[in-house]
Amino acid sequence: MRICFVASEVAPFAKTGGLADVAGVLPKHLHALGHDVRVFMPLYSSIGSAAANANKVDAVQGVPLHLGPHFYRFSIIESRLPDSSVPLYFVHCPEAYDRPSIYTQGPDEHLRFLVLQRAVLETCQRLAFAPDIVHCNDWHTGLIPVMLKSLYAWDRLFSGARSVMSIHNIGYQGVFPPHTVFDVGGEVRHLLSPFTVAGGSINWLREGVRNAHRVTTVSPTYAQEICTPLGGHGLDADLLARGDGVVGILNGVDYREWNPATDRYLKHHFSPEDLSGKAATKRGLLDWLNLTAADTAPLIGLVSRLTVQKGFDLLFDTLPEILATRDVSFVALGSGEPHYESFFTALQRRFRDRVVFHRGYHDELSHLIEAASDMFLMPSMYEPCGLNQMYSLKYGTIPIVRRTGGLADSVQMWDPTTRQGTGIVFNDFDIHGMRWAIHTALDLYKDHDAWTQMIRNAMAQDFSWEKQARQYVGMYEALRA
Ligand code: ADP
Ligand code: GLC
Repeated sequence: MRICFVASEVAPFAKTGGLADVAGVLPKHLHALGHDVRVFMPLYSSIGSAAANANKVDAVQGVPLHLGPHFYRFSIIESRLPDSSVPLYFVHCPEAYDRPSIYTQGPDEHLRFLVLQRAVLETCQRLAFAPDIVHCNDWHTGLIPVMLKSLYAWDRLFSGARSVMSIHNIGYQGVFPPHTVFDVGGEVRHLLSPFTVAGGSINWLREGVRNAHRVTTVSPTYAQEICTPLGGHGLDADLLARGDGVVGILNGVDYREWNPATDRYLKHHFSPEDLSGKAATKRGLLDWLNLTAADTAPLIGLVSRLTVQKGFDLLFDTLPEILATRDVSFVALGSGEPHYESFFTALQRRFRDRVVFHRGYHDELSHLIEAASDMFLMPSMYEPCGLNQMYSLKYGTIPIVRRTGGLADSVQMWDPTTRQGTGIVFNDFDIHGMRWAIHTALDLYKDHDAWTQMIRNAMAQDFSWEKQARQYVGMYEALRA
């Protein structure tokens, strides 16, 4: 199959969260299964020299784009996904992408991602690449399905193309004011949802849901949750109206990147057979961060975007109390909403020798925290898939998670009778659940045999992309039939 895969972020070139991890690795596995997959993303100025050994694509230089009253020109620069021969097409349009960050709150945000979507289809035309599947990811790509049905419907190149809309997070929908509809293109307008046609704002993800041939999301449980009013963020009715459901395929882990036996950031590697490297990594991190904890005291880690989705509100009342009463250290890495940042900053000030908060984005530190910690905290309010809990499992770092979305699908509650289970899972999104979960983990940690067994169970889990990519291929094939 010829597959056109489009995302606003692709690791290692541009990343704010898990979408980048997925977009950077799933296409490689599709390729390994014998498919001709091409990845598209914007050439943000931050990518700079990482795109240095990329080549101009002669057929796609200075292509004009009229978006309502706005005019852009874009070019395509071809690179490869690292360690693969998968073509990566950077959409070069400095006017849109020469910004200090990947996303902006600016008035032209919709234009920036219209450029991406139009550039994808214009490039397919100029390269005579007739995709069987156009795989769209999140709201930044939500209008491609409706564009295929309208603006580009005349072109027989796309007559066999089936569109897939993958929802990585339904909390972000790309909602723009009514006037932006005209930048999308007059031909598109009559196909949009009635509210938009009647002069309302335009919701890109909703248009993706309404017009794609298939809607998928990143875990089976989240697929169910988003079809309910509680989890649908206003799109549940649109999802149900399709009648064909939402396909939930759990994300995989790139074990070339996340593996304690080979991790390039670790001085001391480790495996289920020999955990001494984990202990050494913990000691190293504690020393580096000037934490005074003994080797035997548990260390809780956290790496995350600091947003309401991630459930850190539950920590306000529980974590200070737990730190005050129990022998435990805590290391957090992340940035985001100011009130979470100030909470962690204050916590660090209060528990100076046992808490470190590193504000910002730091690849190396994220690997060290995964490897060194005994437990990993992810109390998400909702979590489409979540990758860090799966990384944690591989590093024998016991996840403490709430039973939601992909967390429910990847972490199994420890059962003292059968001695099965890979983590601590709590059900209710409240401080009682949170408090119970952390105390349960800390108590279990003292039971050396149980804890070691849980680590073994965790490290034996296999979330490799090989299996998950086959599910995508199966879904594509069903669509084509
Ligand atoms: P989300 O996509 O909702 O942020 P995921 O768990 O799917 O959540 O993926 C988050 C990804 O981003 C992981 O690879 C994680 O290690 C990484 N990450 C998040 N915050 C940081 C940070 N501050 N520094 C380094 N990596 C981070
Ligand atoms: C989103 C979700 C996260 C998921 C990631 C990759 O950012 O919040 O749960 O793992 O996308 O699909």
